[in-house]
Amino acid sequence: MQGRRIIVGISGSIAAYKAVLLVRLLVKAGAEVRVLMTPAATEFVSPLTLSTLSKHEVLTSVISEEGWNNHVELGLWADAYVIAPATANTLARLAHGICDTVLAAVYLSARCPVLFAPAMDVDMWHHPSTQANVARLQSYGNELIPVGEGELASGLDGAGRLAEPEAIVAQLEATLSTAREHVEVGPLSGKHVLLTAGPTHEALDPVRFLGNHSSGKMGLALAEASLAAGARVTLVLGPAPAAAQPKYAAALSHERLTLVRVKSAEQMHQAAVSAWPQCDAGILAAAVADYRPADAATQKIKKSGDTMELTLVRNPDIAAALGAKKRSDQRLLGFALETQDAEQHARGKLKRKQLDAIAVNVHGAKRSAFGGDDNDITVLLADGSRRVLGVQSKQAHAQALVALLAELLPVADSSS
Ligand code: PMT
Repeated sequence: MQGRRIIVGISGSIAAYKAVLLVRLLVKAGAEVRVLMTPAATEFVSPLTLSTLSKHEVLTSVISEEGWNNHVELGLWADAYVIAPATANTLARLAHGICDTVLAAVYLSARCPVLFAPAMDVDMWHHPSTQANVARLQSYGNELIPVGEGELASGLDGAGRLAEPEAIVAQLEATLSTAREHVEVGPLSGKHVLLTAGPTHEALDPVRFLGNHSSGKMGLALAEASLAAGARVTLVLGPAPAAAQPKYAAALSHERLTLVRVKSAEQMHQAAVSAWPQCDAGILAAAVADYRPADAATQKIKKSGDTMELTLVRNPDIAAALGAKKRSDQRLLGFALETQDAEQHARGKLKRKQLDAIAVNVHGAKRSAFGGDDNDITVLLADGSRRVLGVQSKQAHAQALVALLAELLPVADSSS
């Protein structure tokens, strides 16, 4: 279980106390565990107990004090999602796509194997309605963890007991080892890469913006190379011209890619910061505007004098924000687009933004990194070394950078 990412969903049953033991077993076995609870589950066990054991905030709603909880990202983050205990009510909701709890929202977003361990009274378990819901969930590819038999909370005897935590872990391990055989093998398989790409547009008024010449090609090539290396990808793409995209149609519609379209630097910042905790690595190829107009006019600005003054305010620095929150198991690779003293400026950015490496490319009279199919890159690493990649296609550069990222990432424990 070492390093495996498991979501435990807990619904409202007296058997919820066993979920506490389940989380403890998973954490002890080296898994990274996130816990989701329905409001009813919190009546049986405390979120504080589970957040203490899992070392992560427990989500009980799609909206929390921190704002909107990104159930899509969580659904993509997990290697497996186990719902234990799954009450008759929760089974019915999941079987019919009713999405009124964070547990159900993540269920609908999950691309990983889903296992459910029912717990209820004997008659509820045998009711044709419950059995139909179980069959329906199985027909979606979800895995039933069989109920146990014995004394039930109601005092009745029979089937409906939640499986023991040890049995749930054993079934989870078996499922994960089968699933692993089907995962595309590559240096980034099992890893999640966050990419930013393209330009940002900073609105002046409803019809004008401040922008730059980024085509998004470098970022799209990185998405393609990351997918080919087996990674899951979250691509935060600014308003790049559509022309570059047909070449990358397969990557853009890949099942392991989540595309988040944004326009401004602030939107890109928000999307990247929200995805970052679920990711192993980030590659920041976007050309982000450092400033935006202080006040975007709500109506088209009319011509008046011969000159015009604009007041600009600083945009958030996405790379620096991610660098500041970087965990010891995450790696961050930036780009630097320079016109002079390229390596000197890039080294400064590498340090200030707490990057692990930076790909230096230039905008000059003879060649520009913007727009074309080729690029000229030298990579500077945090350990002081440099690697000259030279002039190659952006796709070849992307492959080299993805291989470098795989080298920089911590080595997974082969005993998992
Ligand atoms: O899209 P293409 O036409 O293929 O062109 C590719 C490219 C030239 C855009 C790409 O190769 C590239 O160099 N991207 C980064 C351009 C840039 O803005 O560099 P910078 O030196 O200003 O920024 C340094 C790093 O900080 C970059 O990783 C950038 O994404 C990031 N940054 C910058 C400002 C900001 N507010 N937030 C950021 O995250």
